[in-house]
Parts: sequence; structure tokens; C-alpha cells
Amino acid sequence: MSRNEKRIGVLTGGGDCPGLNGVIRAVTKTAQNEYGATVLGIEDGFEGLVEGRAHELSHREVSGILGLGGTILGSSNKGDPWHYPVEASGGQIEIHDVAFKAIRNFQRWRLDCLVAIGGDGTMQIARRLQDAGVPIVGVPKTIDNDVPGTDVTFGFDSAVSVVCEAIDRLATTASSHHRVMVVEVMGRYAGWIALMGGVSGGADLILIPEIAFTWECVFRKVNERQTQGKRFTMICVAEGAKLPDGTQVIQQIDPRRTDAKRLGGVGAQIAQQIESATGHETRVTVLGHLQRGGPPTSADRVLATRYGAAASRHACQGQGGIMVALRHGSIIALPLAEATGALRTVNPDHDLVSAARAVGTSFGDA
Ligand code: F6P
Repeated sequence: MSRNEKRIGVLTGGGDCPGLNGVIRAVTKTAQNEYGATVLGIEDGFEGLVEGRAHELSHREVSGILGLGGTILGSSNKGDPWHYPVEASGGQIEIHDVAFKAIRNFQRWRLDCLVAIGGDGTMQIARRLQDAGVPIVGVPKTIDNDVPGTDVTFGFDSAVSVVCEAIDRLATTASSHHRVMVVEVMGRYAGWIALMGGVSGGADLILIPEIAFTWECVFRKVNERQTQGKRFTMICVAEGAKLPDGTQVIQQIDPRRTDAKRLGGVGAQIAQQIESATGHETRVTVLGHLQRGGPPTSADRVLATRYGAAASRHACQGQGGIMVALRHGSIIALPLAEATGALRTVNPDHDLVSAARAVGTSFGDA
């Protein structure tokens, strides 16, 4: 290896989403084509960095993967080097600080920079690694669209298109059977998927964490549609929507995860309340990981390519400590500190909320 040869690493952290392979492809091809650089693919997110699992990515390995869902590198949401789950001799899980192993592997692989593709958890880890002397370029990924500093994350558009199609399909059967149909979507603490998916599917009610709803308003909307002769109601609820008592429905707490809380189940509770209060037959569908699987939309393939090429150039030029982002249509780079602030949630005054209200969609609050 010549001393001038650039060597960069790439990893995908946190929950997967459509478009990850498009970024890996763009990072690798840009580094190889424009800088003659070597790209190391680190396996299973930060787990691979801690455990020393990586391999060199060839042009061939990253060819033909733009439309492929998932990530060829594997991912994990249990790989925070400062909060690393280790099985003790008695079989119980202990949480250890193993950041030194991650730093040692970065040095052992003689990397100049690391491209970390992930959501807010990955950006927090990236920032700590950067502070510890590991140059990092972040790429904002997640179906939740909640990473601060960017107008949009890749993966979001693909998830919204799944929700839109699901609501279209569920509406025809809801209409035939005169039912209330509750569709629970992902998004964690942000309501972007429910808002965009619900508006694109023409949902009658959209319930999101950022707008408190009351049972009276929800029941009134369902009954109102009946009296108007519209004998079915479509409700799109975000998994993080808060029940009127202010609580979120948690499916599981797993201390090994970067975020211990796994949300889920709010849709079933809403369906049960509606059926018993209004007497209208109600069904619930949880879209779950369908929103994360399968091929990316064309918009996500384009965004993944733009993000990946930009991130690769910064990494090959040794410009770490940043995250690439989309602002007003252009790709920019911002300090990791700006990408690790408060989550980017839906502003209740967002024009899409008011447009939805204008066409008669209720948010359960009025
Ligand atoms: O952050 C992406 C996401 O899909 C969230 O919308 C959801 O709450 C979570 O990940 C689910 O995580 P898991 O795949 O670990 O169940």
C-alpha cells in the first residue's frame, strides 16, 4: 500500500431502511473512481467496529445493489461502544464501555475516516467517536425522518409509499364492510410517517405524538362520518401517539438497545375504545417492518446516491466531524453537533397539518 493511498470505512447503524445499499454503493464507487481509495465495509454497524469485523468492498460487490432493500453490511441497534451488551459468565447481560476497542480497530485498519450511515443514535455515537479522535462523516438515515439538521432522511419516502398503498388497500375493504380501520405506523417519537402517509392515503383521522387527542373528538369524527352517509373511517396512528392520559404504549424494554424502548400497540387500544364507545365494528392493522423492507423508491435511490457521493468526498478529503444533509434542495455538510440536538418532530403548525385540516382530516383535537 502506498503511504498516500486513502482508506475509508463505511458502516450502517441502527434499524435498517430502504436506500442503505444505495449509499454504500455511492460511497464506495466515488471513493474508488475519484480518489483511488480503498473502502472497508464494517459489518453489523458499530458491533463490527468493536469486534473487528470488516472486509474490503470491491467494485463488484457494490454493483447492482441500488434497488436492493436492507444493507449488504448488516446493521444493529445494540452496538453503542459506550453502552455495549456483554454476556457475563452466568449468562446475564452486562453493559460495558468498550469504546477503546472501536478506536483500536479504526487505527489497526489504518483508516483515514469513517462514514457512519444511521439515525439519531448513530449520530450521537459518531459525535463521541469524533471527540475521541476518530474522524467521522455521518449520513442521515431513517424511515422516521427525525434526524435534526436535515430536511429529509433517506428511507422516509419509501416508508410513506408503503403506508399510502396500505391505506388505499384497507379503505376498499373498510368501505365494503362499513368498518372503522385503524392503521398503526412506525416513527418512534415523531409523527412524520403518520402525517405524510395519512395525508397521501386520505385518512380521516391522523393521530401523532406532537398533537394531543381526546377520545370525544375521535368518537365524534367516527360518528359524524356515519351520519354523513360515509359508512367507513380510516385512521392512521403513529406508534408514538400519546393516549389521552399522556402515556405512550410500550411493547418492550430492552436495555441492550441504544434506545431501550420499543413502541407498539397503541392502534389496538384505540380500536378497542372506538368499538366499545361507538358500536362500530373496528379492525386494526400494524404495518410494522413492512415499512422498512423492500426496494427503495426512486426518490430514495436518488437521495442515497447524492448523500453517498458527498459523504465519500468529505471522507476521502479527511473532513470529519460532519453530517451531510439536504437543505432547501441542496446537499450541505453541517457539524455533527448540529445533527445531534433535539429530535426533529412535526411542528403542529406545519403547513401539511393545516392543509390536512382544510380537507377535513381530524387530528383528534378539535
Ligand atoms: O427507527 C426506525 C424504527 O423502525 C422505528 O420507527 C421503530 O420504532 C423501531 O425502529 C423499531 O425497531 P426494531 O426494528 O428494533 O423493532
